[in-house]
Amino acid sequence: MAKIPEDVIETVRTATNIADVVGQYVQLKKSGKNLFGLCPFHEERTPSFSVAEDKQIFHCFSCGRGGNVFKFLMELEHVTFPEAVVKVADFSHVDLDSEYRQDAQGPAVDSKTSQLIALQEQAAKLYHHILVNTEVGQPALDYLHQRGLTDETIETYQLGFAPGQRLLKPFFDQRNSDYQLLRQSGLFIENAQGELRDRFTERVMFPLRNASGHVTAFSGRLMQPADNQPKYLNSPETTLFNKSRLLFNFDLARPAIREAGEVTLFEGYMDVISATQAGVRNGIASMGTSLTTEQIYAIERTTDKLNVCYDGDEPGQRAISRALGLLNQHSHLQLSVIQLPEGQDPDEYRQAHGDVAFKQMMTTAKETPIKFQLRFLRRNKALDTDAERLDYVNQVMPLLAQVQEPVELDLYLNQLATEFKIDKSALLAQLKQTQRDVAAQAERDRPREPEKAPVAPPVTVYQQQRPLTRLERAERNLLYHLLHDRNVWAKVSSVADFCFVHDDYQVIYTLAQGYFQTHQTYQTAQFTDFIQEDRLQQLVIELETTTHAAATPREIDDYLAVIMNEAPVDEQLRQKKNQLAEASRLGDAEQQRQLVIEIVQLERQRQANKQL
Ligand code: UTP
Ligand code: MN
Repeated sequence: MAKIPEDVIETVRTATNIADVVGQYVQLKKSGKNLFGLCPFHEERTPSFSVAEDKQIFHCFSCGRGGNVFKFLMELEHVTFPEAVVKVADFSHVDLDSEYRQDAQGPAVDSKTSQLIALQEQAAKLYHHILVNTEVGQPALDYLHQRGLTDETIETYQLGFAPGQRLLKPFFDQRNSDYQLLRQSGLFIENAQGELRDRFTERVMFPLRNASGHVTAFSGRLMQPADNQPKYLNSPETTLFNKSRLLFNFDLARPAIREAGEVTLFEGYMDVISATQAGVRNGIASMGTSLTTEQIYAIERTTDKLNVCYDGDEPGQRAISRALGLLNQHSHLQLSVIQLPEGQDPDEYRQAHGDVAFKQMMTTAKETPIKFQLRFLRRNKALDTDAERLDYVNQVMPLLAQVQEPVELDLYLNQLATEFKIDKSALLAQLKQTQRDVAAQAERDRPREPEKAPVAPPVTVYQQQRPLTRLERAERNLLYHLLHDRNVWAKVSSVADFCFVHDDYQVIYTLAQGYFQTHQTYQTAQFTDFIQEDRLQQLVIELETTTHAAATPREIDDYLAVIMNEAPVDEQLRQKKNQLAEASRLGDAEQQRQLVIEIVQLERQRQANKQL
């Protein structure tokens, strides 16, 4: 297999967020700047595993493992470096030249899983082929066109058509597919005679892809409503497909979500697809069920802003209210609602008003969750009696009590005061009381509530494992700043004879000299690939995980002084003496002579130090 060149590795790395890859295996929660979770490499009850998205590295405080995204997969799936690069490339949809993958694929992680995926993907291809290239597919193609979808969109989403009952079985039989595997694929229904018949018939097919972009299930839509048949029929739950985990379009949307800094949650697949066609590519949808905590975690790993854009009708409004409640309870996401005009769903809106208007609406129709709730609570209410109005005011007070922005709060209070002709100071007084009640209630609830966000374990956990000497602390700090600050690098380079006392740091420093010949800036996740040795990689990761503010020139001087002057000469002597013994053993006379000179110098220095 050809060696993968560095620029290709770089492309793969930059196309990937380590948190997304790790997130496939570890449930991560944000705490401060980093993400935390339970370490996948050993058993533990409190999270000591962290991912730093800014540096694109992971590190476990407890077992000390750490590295970049490739290292993570190497350790977890026991694959080689090139294999890990291929895996990450596939995950991030980076096209890799086939010469890099020949051997890289190796034995599949779980061959049954990959065989099941292969079945789904073959079925998707076949359904798509039938839709776009055959006469049986023509009515379905017309239907999709008439719903305003372009051929490009149909291609992107690999939409398809499932005709009669006997399509897939003969198709897979020709390919000698395993019978048991077919039974487990969810693509068939077993009839009373024990024969497999296509589950999906006469339906427009929407392949459902997992977060890695693989088809794991289908949803099939009827073109005309039919009695006793659901509009959308989904695959049953299989080992591949879990309805409460899947987020429709998450794989395709992820880059757009990261770019926009926000995600838009729609109610239906068609809304997501429609939005994509209008150029709004950061849309996802849950599977017709209400959001699960697993889905919320998946979203939180990717962004911290979410817009809920559900249908404008009454069920849609109720669903928004429910979703806001869930999201508030289980996430720190900053929420907005995109409120559609009465009754319409996003897809209908786009069809009625066009792509440009749709895209505009995504920003202009955005409102705060409070504003949504204020309107939501008064829908279907006439509010023409005092009792009704008072009731409404009492309902909205707890909401207003949550508003942090004074200006925003003032706005709402003014609206209420004007609309209901209530004295604003009376509203304010009631708000104060509500705030006190809310605070008291929160206090009562607090001890019973389970710890939500995992807290970063104190750094002492690590320090207990291995206390650092003053010298080593200076070495680590200096090395960190050497790597990160070109000024420090220039300064230290100009110090004649500078070297670290401990070999590990010196080796890293030497490797860094090579690294900077071909790299302008320092990136930890990139540099660790440069270092072959495991132990040194860990060290570089450890350097990153204790926070270092920028160092003043004074501090750098202090580190240098500690390392160069106060460095325990004894330690150096001990090392040199070991090296001398080794040189003698090997009979390296030149090396011996050199070492003896150095040892004599060190002995003298030790004497001099003693006299100070
Ligand atoms: P909608 O009925 O709003 O779907 O249901 P939609 O996307 O607007 O579809 P079109 O425009 O009529 O084609 C929202 C979601 O609920 C789930 C699906 O996930 C759908 O996208 N659903 C709906 C089902 O699973 N089964 C159903 O029978 C209906
Ligand atoms: Mn719809």
